Parts: sequence; C-alpha cells; structure tokens
Amino acid sequence: MRSTIPKIAVAMGALVLTAAGCAVDGASASEPADRGTVGITLPTTARPRWIKDGGSMRKQLELLGYKTDLRYAEDDAATQADQVEEMVDNGVKALVIGAVDGPVLKDVLERAAADDIPVISYDRLLRGTPDVDYYATFDNFRVGVLQGRAIADRLKLATAEGPFNLELFGGSPTDNNATFFFNGAMSVLQPHISSGKLVLRSGKREFADISTVGYETKLAQTRMTELLEKHYRSASVHAVLSPLDRMSLGIVAALQADGYGTAAKPMPVVTGQDVEVDSVKLIAAGKQSATVFKDTRELAKVAVRMTDMLLRGETPEVNDTEQYHNGAKTMSTFLLQPVDVDESNYERILIDSGYYTAEQISG
Ligand code: GAL
Repeated sequence: MRSTIPKIAVAMGALVLTAAGCAVDGASASEPADRGTVGITLPTTARPRWIKDGGSMRKQLELLGYKTDLRYAEDDAATQADQVEEMVDNGVKALVIGAVDGPVLKDVLERAAADDIPVISYDRLLRGTPDVDYYATFDNFRVGVLQGRAIADRLKLATAEGPFNLELFGGSPTDNNATFFFNGAMSVLQPHISSGKLVLRSGKREFADISTVGYETKLAQTRMTELLEKHYRSASVHAVLSPLDRMSLGIVAALQADGYGTAAKPMPVVTGQDVEVDSVKLIAAGKQSATVFKDTRELAKVAVRMTDMLLRGETPEVNDTEQYHNGAKTMSTFLLQPVDVDESNYERILIDSGYYTAEQISG
C-alpha cells in the first residue's frame, strides 16, 4: 500500500486550505485561477448520499479554481449518456462519473478519449470501456463483509446452535457494486448456510433471483411481504440481508405490518448501508440492526485530488490495482474503507464527526 487514508485526507485538507486561503498559481484568493470546467454526473438525487457527494466535489473543485457542471441522471442511463455528450461538446477539462449503468456510456466515453478528456469513475465502476482512467470508490466487498458480520455477530453464529431463518436481498443489477456487496456478505454467511445453521426457507440464494432494480424501497417491501406470506406463516425470520438503507426501510415496514417488533415476535436482524437519516432513526429505535457508513466527504476528496493531479499532468495515488476489472481493463483504484454503524456507535461516528447534526437524527 502506497498510502494510508488519513495521509491522503490530511494532504487533501492541506490542498483545500491552500487554495482557499491564498494564491493558486498566481491568482488571488478572491479571484481564483480559472482552470476550466469539470463535468460531474451522478446517479440520482433520490438518495441523499449522492447530493452530499456532488456538493462536496463542487465545493472542493471550486476552491481549486475549477468551474463545475454538476448533473444528476435520475437513474436513467440514456439521460446520463446525453449529459456526458453535452459536457464533451462543451469542452470540459475532465469528467467524474458515478454511473447509472456503466456499459451504456461506452460510445460517448470514446469521444471523450478522442478529445483527451480524462475520466474518473466515481463510486460505481464504468464497465465495458477502456476509456476510463481512474476509479475512486469504497471497498465494496468489505461493505458486504460488514453486513454479513452484522448478521453473524447478532445471531452469535460462532457458538449458537441454530438453525436460524435468513432471507437475502441484493442490490440493483445495473450497479457493478451490487455483486461486490453480495459476494462480500456471502463470504461470511455461506459457510453457515452450508452447515445448515442458516436456513433460506425461500430457497433463493443466487444474485439474479434476489436483486432489486434501482434499489427501490417499494420493490423490497413487496418482496418481503410475499416472502412472509409464502414461507413464514408457521415460522419466524431471524435475519434479512439488505444491501442498502432505502431497501431496509421497505423491509422493516413489511416486517412491522406482519407483527414483528414485539417481545413475542422480535425484529429480525436487518442490515443496511449509507447511513440514511430515516435508517439511523430506525437503528436508534432498535428496528434496524446496523448500517454501513461510507464517508462521502472523503470519497469526494479522493476524486477531486485525482482530477486535479491528472489535469496538472501528475500521476494520481492509488492503493488497489487488482480487484476491479471493468471488462476492458484492470482499474487503478483508490479504495476507502467503509465503517459499520449500529446503536452503540452512531452518535460518535455520525454526529461527533459532523456528518449529521443531533437534530437531524432526533427530529
Ligand atoms: C451504490 C453505492 C451505495 C448506494 C447505492 C444506491 O453504488 O455504492 O453507497 O448509494 O449505489 O444509490
């Protein structure tokens, strides 16, 4: 490993402070240098995390003297392809893309490459194209490992006899991250399924059978309701693997509607990801067991630093050159570490760090 996260975080802090506080390449603080426009397109405004991601990148890039063209594709791959095309036509200096559906951007990225516009894949991998330069993301396999462990620890799978009933939910099939989340979780859970300690009453084990288009709350709620009706009239479910908080909301709603959440019928273990405010409230209330925190402020710093270095003709720092192959090339990647959050640490990790205010969580 060539770098540690704290090191890059400190370096980025220094970089931003320098840009904010004094001259950038001869320009005054009140009138920063014009380094051209960076185009940013992210999947959707429907998930608060992407709004934070976009806002952080915009702020940091502007402090460095770049203009930004920040857009959201509202989960529509064709819209995102149009956005990128327009940005290329407008002569952006670099592109940062959080893909809706990687392969759909192949042609327009070929045009960006022809114009020598560097492309950074942000959080989600741009698949099926050689025309992407760097990848900034979290360790998505580890996100799944943390979710699997949240189940294993709470059911005490190491020592308890079981068997326990588990149901699996997967993320969006168009998002490359979704299989990483799933495979990471299954690396923890599969041995217990094989030994019979965890039982899938629905029999659904493969990603293709449990994936959830667009990570939709409603789809997750409907599927959970159906699972309960079909397989849990004479048994209880003890754990539900949910890859994302928005889905956990639907899953918890279905469970509550079925009578879970009382002393006689306790809530099963339910996992999540993204520390969405509604889910942190559920965690505080004991209705969702855990979530996973990806500090989007740090990811934005990594992407901004990569962009800035590329535009200065320097080589960005990476810490993984093996895990992510996009179908055309193995990516030079900077991976940040996700953090598991539950009732024992959410205040320290989310409020003390300034990610949320206490009012946001209690209100
Ligand atoms: C994933 C991302 C998650 C979550 C999800 C839904 O790609 O890694 O953190 O935001 O998309 O938008």
